[in-house]
Amino acid sequence: MDINEGKPEIHAGLEGIYFTESSVCKVDGQQGRLYYRGYPIETLANSSNFTEVAYLLLYGKLPTGQELDAFDAQMREERSLPGEVIAEIGRTAARAHPMDTMRTAISMLSAYDAEAYNDSPDANMRKSIRLISKSASIAATIGRYRSGKLYVAPDASLSHAENFLYMLSGEKPDKVDARILDVMFTVHAEHSSNASTFGVLVAGSTLADLYSSVTAGMAVLKGPLHGGADEAALRMMREIGSADNTERYIDDALAGKKKIMGFGHRVYKTYDPRARIVRSYLESLLSSPYEEQRNLAQIALSAEKLMIDRLGKAKGIWPNIDFFAGPVYVSLGIPAEVFTPIFAAARMAGWCAHMLEYWKSNKLLRPLEYYSGQLDLDYVPVEKR
Ligand code: SDX
Repeated sequence: MDINEGKPEIHAGLEGIYFTESSVCKVDGQQGRLYYRGYPIETLANSSNFTEVAYLLLYGKLPTGQELDAFDAQMREERSLPGEVIAEIGRTAARAHPMDTMRTAISMLSAYDAEAYNDSPDANMRKSIRLISKSASIAATIGRYRSGKLYVAPDASLSHAENFLYMLSGEKPDKVDARILDVMFTVHAEHSSNASTFGVLVAGSTLADLYSSVTAGMAVLKGPLHGGADEAALRMMREIGSADNTERYIDDALAGKKKIMGFGHRVYKTYDPRARIVRSYLESLLSSPYEEQRNLAQIALSAEKLMIDRLGKAKGIWPNIDFFAGPVYVSLGIPAEVFTPIFAAARMAGWCAHMLEYWKSNKLLRPLEYYSGQLDLDYVPVEKR
């Protein structure tokens, strides 16, 4: 019998498969458009801020002034971390990859949350706010400890992005830098059923609690094919070294069938609209007083041009959100290993919004696999094998 007889169509990587319905986010891969709860990402990046966007994602509408003030106050209050979590970050920050330290810290938070296992919608909303706020404090603290410096407690007088930079550097940040970081948080906050959000939903669909579900998302986001690409793209730019070395480096990499980090996307088959927003900061870096920042911007822009020429039109491989993020973060004084933790801290909003939505009509996520092995084999005792 032909073993492929009756074989169903296999959708590798679940490519093109719809598994649920959602009103959180629309990604239009052909047109290169992105909407959070119906608002274009360009509008939110220009006119809103991460705290308001987190509210929008969680509640499904823009807040009134009073609602925003109350939500902002909750976010500021929730920045503090349990002492044991700070100590654990201190123990592993220099040894483990920052995403592993962050995954552990996020998971540990549940031990210090009296309502960790309260799965009521109100408790899950409060936990979402706690997680969104605390994950930024965790990411900043990891960066702080990895640079050999002591923990800096959060400052409730600062905005979300200002406080992140303060907890990372120990200094009150420049308003322009904080605004740029806030936009980075906004454009990383949500992106429909990407791998890490799917991981969160797989965990939560078993009715595991919210902390367990986002811990699964942390593990998934780390990979270089997903959230880890921002750090990998910057490392590539540093390896390229100078703009005039870009063509040779890229062509050698492509000839060797290597993937260029920060390019390509499962859904976008044109320019990632978030990449355009992040790219807009690079023009100013070209005239930075710091040579490394000028150099990185030049390399990024020459690599972009080359990749679009080589693979953009031909194979639909265009810059994605991760490509230009590195040079921007470097200009904010953020080390490469903290890039993906920032991505995680921002995406915590999207993970929680999707999880709370999915639980409203929960269904265990359990796809099929096509079995292509043998059946009914005879068991031969080990002495006769
Ligand atoms: C994010 O899903 C989301 O929404 C994710 C995200 C979010 O906000 O959550 O947008 C964030 O993860 C962005 C993507 C970050 N990852 C990278 O930049 C890593 C590099 N990119 C690739 O690994 C790849 O493009 C993926 C993983 C992003 C998408 O891969 P797919 O859809 O599984 O497609 P594929 O790997 O099968 O590639 C199809 C073809 C292959 O060539 P052939 O074997 O058909 O000849 O395109 C080639 C690939 O080799 N290709 C690339 C490439 N990406 C795809 N070739 C060179 N460089 C690349 N970057």
